[in-house]
Amino acid sequence: MSKPSPVTATLKQHHDRLSRQTLARLFAEDAQRFQRFSARCDGLLLDYSKNLVDEACLEALLELADQCELQRGINAMFAGDPINNTEQRAVLHTALRNGGQYLQPETRQAINQTRERMLAMADQLQQGELKGYAGRTIDTIVNIGVGGSDLGPMMAVEALASYHQSATRIRFVSNIDPVHISRTLAQCDPATTLFIICSKTFTTLETLANARAARAWFVAQTAREDAIHQHFYAVSTNLEAAAEFGIPERNIFPMWDWVGGRYSLWSAIGLSIALAIGREQFEAFLAGGRAMDDHFRTSPWRQNLPVLMALLGVWHSDYWGAQSQALICYDQNLAQFPAYLQQLDMESNGKSVTRDGWPVDYATGAILWGGVGTNTQHSFHQLLHQGTHFIPVDFIVGARSTDPVGEQHAALLANCLAQSQALMQGRSEEDLKQQMLDQGKSEAEAALLARHRRIPGNRPSNTLMYPVLTPFVLGQLIALYEHKIFTQSVIWDINAFDQWGVELGKELSKTITGVLKNPDQAHRQDASTNGLIEYYRDNGL
Ligand code: F6P
Repeated sequence: MSKPSPVTATLKQHHDRLSRQTLARLFAEDAQRFQRFSARCDGLLLDYSKNLVDEACLEALLELADQCELQRGINAMFAGDPINNTEQRAVLHTALRNGGQYLQPETRQAINQTRERMLAMADQLQQGELKGYAGRTIDTIVNIGVGGSDLGPMMAVEALASYHQSATRIRFVSNIDPVHISRTLAQCDPATTLFIICSKTFTTLETLANARAARAWFVAQTAREDAIHQHFYAVSTNLEAAAEFGIPERNIFPMWDWVGGRYSLWSAIGLSIALAIGREQFEAFLAGGRAMDDHFRTSPWRQNLPVLMALLGVWHSDYWGAQSQALICYDQNLAQFPAYLQQLDMESNGKSVTRDGWPVDYATGAILWGGVGTNTQHSFHQLLHQGTHFIPVDFIVGARSTDPVGEQHAALLANCLAQSQALMQGRSEEDLKQQMLDQGKSEAEAALLARHRRIPGNRPSNTLMYPVLTPFVLGQLIALYEHKIFTQSVIWDINAFDQWGVELGKELSKTITGVLKNPDQAHRQDASTNGLIEYYRDNGL
């Protein structure tokens, strides 16, 4: 039986009808619009009233979730069914925040033991008991990883800076560009620096190159090869490779193939987060994720934040032709959140065949991009307000600041609310023209300027608001987007948990590296690649 398409005749009719509506009119006609189109989960508020939906349309969107058997999909994921069908793997990052509640006793034990080891290490660091080979207290942690082994921990460590338990500096090295590792090492003292090599596979080119560079630097600086065991830790599923690298077993934290790389910050890949914020706050972070899991599993779709956001995303991509989705965090703590979500969303839902391998005939994962407000107002908001693209926006903001200074937070919040209001209401040409005529401008000048200054409005947005950013709230936010992405993958009938698209580039780079390393080797690439290799041979050697 063929799977239902996300593009239905009913929803197309709603689209035609709502294309003749405006958001401003929908608000004017319904004083209860905010109450009607907002939902909460443990203090986290989603206001989705500024989207082009009404009751009938939302009803049809919610039906789509049923037609696509979303509940069955959710149950299958939480039960550990191999829903990553191209790799025959379960998808169980949720088990890492509920202690493996629904899993076999051995798996549960492994999860809890590993977490306890992470937290014990965090206790040691906090108490100044983590020492290097010279007996000096560790004051710098360098996380070496890339993609999911970097972006999540880096984002969370920065986001939770107000909750750091010690002055330990935490650095992240990801890029194979030698600039990254060399600049980082230049700021480290080998006697007080600890390296965590994070790689699910322990085969990733960038990570292994940086890890080798760090080890070589350590030995060169200290002449103490025997001290590697005190300064190098690893997180991986590939315990043999980590051991072969020279990391003693007691310094290796396991993870499991049922944790996807981009979903892995809840596992020991999040060791740097635990070291930064300590036991209690890390538990709160997991509890935030768990609260969202329970909400996602058990709330009716109409109150279900991830489901609502997912359906609105499908609505925008498949009916309104939105190709991208902006994420604007009015919270400096979340400066890295858009980059983190880029991998989470685009590596998960950037797919063009169904789970059975047939080409889709509808748009899937949107291009996700964004930044931190108010800075973005002074860079790309012009395009959001007056450009030709239809770009739905997620705004994220706290009611309070983690680091209040005078009235600044109120100004931040006011700007956030003003932006979503401006996108929604716009500003009419007639009003602008009248305003300028009143100011004494000529008819011709007023008409011309009004056309330039007109803001069409009617551009959709969600606003997510929380009391103040805490580890719990960050856990909720991450799990919210994880489940949004998963829900969309069910509706689009795609596998959100593999990433075959990144493989070809990895393979080709191996061949090209061979050619670059060996100047005598004949190279038989395409003309463009050959030309670029020639340029390198002329200038890079
Ligand atoms: O290249 C993509 C990817 O496989 C991501 O999915 C993953 O997060 C990243 O590489 C790093 O992989 P690993 O943790 O195995 O080094």
